Amino acid sequence: MESSKAVLGVLISGRGSNMKSIVEACESDDIPARVGIVISNRGDAPGIGWAAGHGLDTAVISHRDFESREAHDRAVVGKLRAAGVDWVCLAGYMRLLSAEFVQAFPRRILNIHPALLPAFPGLDAQQQALDYGVRVTGCTVHLVDEKLDHGPIVAQRSLKIRDDESVEGLKSRLIIEEHRCYVEALSRILEEQWDVQGRRVIFEKRISAARRPH
Ligand code: GAR
Repeated sequence: MESSKAVLGVLISGRGSNMKSIVEACESDDIPARVGIVISNRGDAPGIGWAAGHGLDTAVISHRDFESREAHDRAVVGKLRAAGVDWVCLAGYMRLLSAEFVQAFPRRILNIHPALLPAFPGLDAQQQALDYGVRVTGCTVHLVDEKLDHGPIVAQRSLKIRDDESVEGLKSRLIIEEHRCYVEALSRILEEQWDVQGRRVIFEKRISAARRPH
C-alpha cells in the first residue's frame, strides 16, 4: 500500500545518477519506499531537471543564499519535513551536514561514498585510490554522523583496479556498483530489523544466525 511506504528525501549536487537509480528502484518495488522530494544545493545540477521532468517534487536551496551552514541546513530540514520525509539519502550531495541536521534525522540519513571507507574519505576518492596504488577499491553506503564519510557502514561493494585504469574509466565502472550498493543498502535497512552496536550495523538475520547452535 502506497501510504505504508517509507518516504525518501534525496539530496544531490550534480548529475544525480544515484538519485535516478533510487527513484527507479522505488518504482519497480525493489525498495519499499517512494521519493517524496529531491533537493539540490545547486540550481545547475542536471539531476534536478531530470527529477522535475520525471514528475517528482523538487527544490533548489542554494547554500550561497544563507549566511551559515546551520541556516542552510535548517532550510533543507524544513523542506524535508514539509515533504513528510522519513529517510534522507545523500546522493552526490557535496556538503558536510551540521550537527543540527544530523540530529534532526537520527540514524535516518544515508550517504554513498566512492571508496571502501575508511579509505579515501573526502573529495576525489577515485583519484585518491589510483594515486595510492590500491589494487581493489569500491563504494560504501553508511549512516551519516557529524564527521565526514564516517558513520556506521550499511553496505559495500568492491572492484579490482585494472593496470591501465584511468580515473574516468574507474569512475564509470564504479558508478554501476554504487547504484547497486545504494539499492541494496536501502532495501536491507527498510526491510530488515537492524541495530547499531559500536560501529557495526547488525541485521536481525545475522543476529539469529549467530545465535543458532552449530
Ligand atoms: C558519486 O560517485 C558519489 O559516490 C560521489 O559523487 C558522485 C555523484 O554522482 N559522492 C561523494 O564523493 C561524496 N563524498 P551522481 O550525482 O551521478 O550520483
